[in-house]
Amino acid sequence: MNSFALSSGPAGDLQTFRPLANGGLPSDSLSYKSTRLMARAVNGMQMALAEAYVNGLEIPDSLYRAMLHSTMPTLFRSFPGLLAPYEWVLTESDRLAESSGELMKIQYDLPQTMLNKMLGDWEPIYPKYSMGLWENGAQDLEESQKQMIDQLIERLGIEDGDQILDFGCGWGCVPNYIMTKFANVRFTGVNLSHQQCTYMRTKMNDPRSQLSSGRFTLVEGDLNDIEFAEKFDKIVSVGVFCHVGNLTQSLQKLASLLKPKGRALIHIITVRIPNNMSSGFTHKYIFPHGRYWNHDAIPSHSRDLKTVKRWYLNGMNYHQTLTQWLHRFDANQSEFQSLDYGMDYARFRRIWRFYLLLLGTIFATCDGEYNGNGQYLLTHADASGLA
Ligand SMILES: C[S@@+](CC[C@H](N)C(=O)[O-])C[C@H]1O[C@@H](n2cnc3c(N)ncnc32)[C@H](O)[C@@H]1O
Repeated sequence: MNSFALSSGPAGDLQTFRPLANGGLPSDSLSYKSTRLMARAVNGMQMALAEAYVNGLEIPDSLYRAMLHSTMPTLFRSFPGLLAPYEWVLTESDRLAESSGELMKIQYDLPQTMLNKMLGDWEPIYPKYSMGLWENGAQDLEESQKQMIDQLIERLGIEDGDQILDFGCGWGCVPNYIMTKFANVRFTGVNLSHQQCTYMRTKMNDPRSQLSSGRFTLVEGDLNDIEFAEKFDKIVSVGVFCHVGNLTQSLQKLASLLKPKGRALIHIITVRIPNNMSSGFTHKYIFPHGRYWNHDAIPSHSRDLKTVKRWYLNGMNYHQTLTQWLHRFDANQSEFQSLDYGMDYARFRRIWRFYLLLLGTIFATCDGEYNGNGQYLLTHADASGLA
């Protein structure tokens, strides 16, 4: 069923990776149906453990991690189809992004004191909810995020004077940092989270922030609905496409917003297995309809845009980032417990510890070779070479 072997190429890519739609099985075949049945059973077991933890089962972190390290490699290597618990994980959704309102409610519009402290809040590195880059020697979270954005700048080829769109801009960290480096770059950031937009509006009135330079435009809105009269030189989107259910529509939208010689860089969580992956736990408690696209999905869904280069970033980088977030989450309990999460704090804490441990451990299994991040440099399909 799993039709690729591991071998790292010069860019750390899996040279022999050959994705097969839905694990390569026709959806009416008996094997496909039994795989779906087994995927539901595996998900049922994972959910039973997750619910027990959320409801108070005491498991030491070391045991939790050991359980994942002993099962995930087998699933990644031999039974990747079982990592897609629902049918929708395998197909494109009708809308560009699904469950956006619910996602904001249970995730992005949570008390910002909690998220900001967990993610880190400095100048110019504002809370950044995506992978930091550790493999080049970063010593702390702040430095890892700077190095990550420096790499984005280089790979996207940002030049002073560029008009840049940040598609899903979080707290404005990427625009703020890039504007410290380029005096004439202008940014437009799109984000549906009202709380994160409130954070950015405060910064837009703070003279210490580049967001107050008059070069940053904030659009509070849903990716499904945004329209712009202008087109951009560059588009950057970091950590957002796990919320995108329809890649074809999203890439069409990006193409419609990019100048003829423009470039886009998408940075997302990817899995180097034939099918996409999701988790019943994160779907219910953390990221409704969140999915991890297989590493080949962006190139294979681009019609109006073509992938001119792609990179795989080893999952150990995300493992270290999530380990830092978990430390910071644990270290700030006394302050966090007084905030309003719409539920009993003990329950909230257990949901978030389960989440941070789950993702932090999965990124580290198989030395980060199966579950990491992908970066895709895109131009218009008819563009000749890199401008
Ligand atoms: C994982 S965070 C990444 C944020 C930022 N790019 C970073 O690296 O810190 C995903 C971001 O996408 C935004 N987002 C998710 N779904 C969205 C939607 N349908 N419309 C607009 N923004 C959305 C979230 O509010 C959040 O800011």
